[in-house]
Amino acid sequence: MTEKVHRLLNEQINKELYSAYLYLDFSNYFKEKGLDGFANWYMIQAQEERDHAMLFYTYLQNESEKVTLLPVAKPDKEINAPMDVLLAGLEHEKYVTSLINDIYAAAYEVRDFRTMQFLDWFVKEQGEEETNANDLITKMELFGGDPRSLYLLNQELAARVYSAPSLVL
Ligand code: FEO
Repeated sequence: MTEKVHRLLNEQINKELYSAYLYLDFSNYFKEKGLDGFANWYMIQAQEERDHAMLFYTYLQNESEKVTLLPVAKPDKEINAPMDVLLAGLEHEKYVTSLINDIYAAAYEVRDFRTMQFLDWFVKEQGEEETNANDLITKMELFGGDPRSLYLLNQELAARVYSAPSLVL
């Protein structure tokens, strides 16, 4: 593995842990607002991000590459209304997609096919993450303005359950 691919994979552990921390912050915001369903949705999102971090961690260890844990930054999104959270979530997922693409490009450049194969799952996952974030914005735009509809949307999000990632290393 090249130094660059190694560095990017190691940094991605941190980026995914930051994502978990960010979504935990979002969950906390909704909990304080009394929207438990939204809080549940973002709590599960946080769990998935922790799983993503662990996949990068495990991949490096399996490749006998050194793992260096870096400090996780404070969530820094400006939140004044529920919709701010949803928009920040989509923006963040697009940023993560760009990071995955950067690692993929670095691996492609040096014909690191094993890393590319590992990253394939994340390429697909990022597509799903962006779709989910977009769907949530659409639902909020449609129903968020009316308290009764918001209550039903909150109930729908309360039904989301955690499932472990389909990628096993
Ligand atoms: Fe781990 Fe939401 O990307």
